[in-house]
Amino acid sequence: MQLFLDSTDVAAIKDLAATGLVDGVTTNPTLIAKSGRPMAQVIAEICGVVEGPVSAEVAAQDTAGMLDEGRKLAGIAPNVVVKVPLTRDGLIACREFAHEGISTNVTLCFSAAQALLAAKCGASYISPFIGRLDDVGADGMDLIVEIRAIYDNYDFDTEILAASIRSTAHVTTAALAGADCATIPPDVFNGLFKHPLTERGLDQFMKDWAKTGQSIL
Ligand code: E4P
Repeated sequence: MQLFLDSTDVAAIKDLAATGLVDGVTTNPTLIAKSGRPMAQVIAEICGVVEGPVSAEVAAQDTAGMLDEGRKLAGIAPNVVVKVPLTRDGLIACREFAHEGISTNVTLCFSAAQALLAAKCGASYISPFIGRLDDVGADGMDLIVEIRAIYDNYDFDTEILAASIRSTAHVTTAALAGADCATIPPDVFNGLFKHPLTERGLDQFMKDWAKTGQSIL
């Protein structure tokens, strides 16, 4: 499973990229606003840190505007993936980007029907929003299961990018459901390393080691 960071925090991205575990990055207009920096500058900087796909989202709502913005974003770096919303206009733009060889991430997916349309339009990635579905009382993970089955039935190449991840359990459940990637906020990503029994066990080992008075080097 590919692990992406869902962030515009360049320091946090650099910190986690140093582990070699970060396969890509996703951003959205909310995260760009949170950075307080010009979008092109942030995306260029992230693309310099992470070699894998970096999603940059268009702001236009109409197909022509999305195409103009997407082509500009794609020109920032070769690893930019143009993110378009899952709307009729967004999917038309997605199909055109596919013809032009520009990678796309279709975002704000909340149903299997939407995911089917995105795949038919040649989306590189589909982003089902797990956490936001959970927030309204649905089970976001059911959507991943449904999309996996549909994409496998028809051999679609579109990769399932589990988004709106809020917990370690979201990451592992998405992996079990067959998501190709998960995009994870830095604090949740850092939590993946941890387990209370690991910390407790290590603490005991170190106490016992100290009692031996030995040194390995
Ligand atoms: C990723 O592409 C999405 O923009 C992101 O995961 C949304 O997460 P949120 O629902 O926590 O804002």
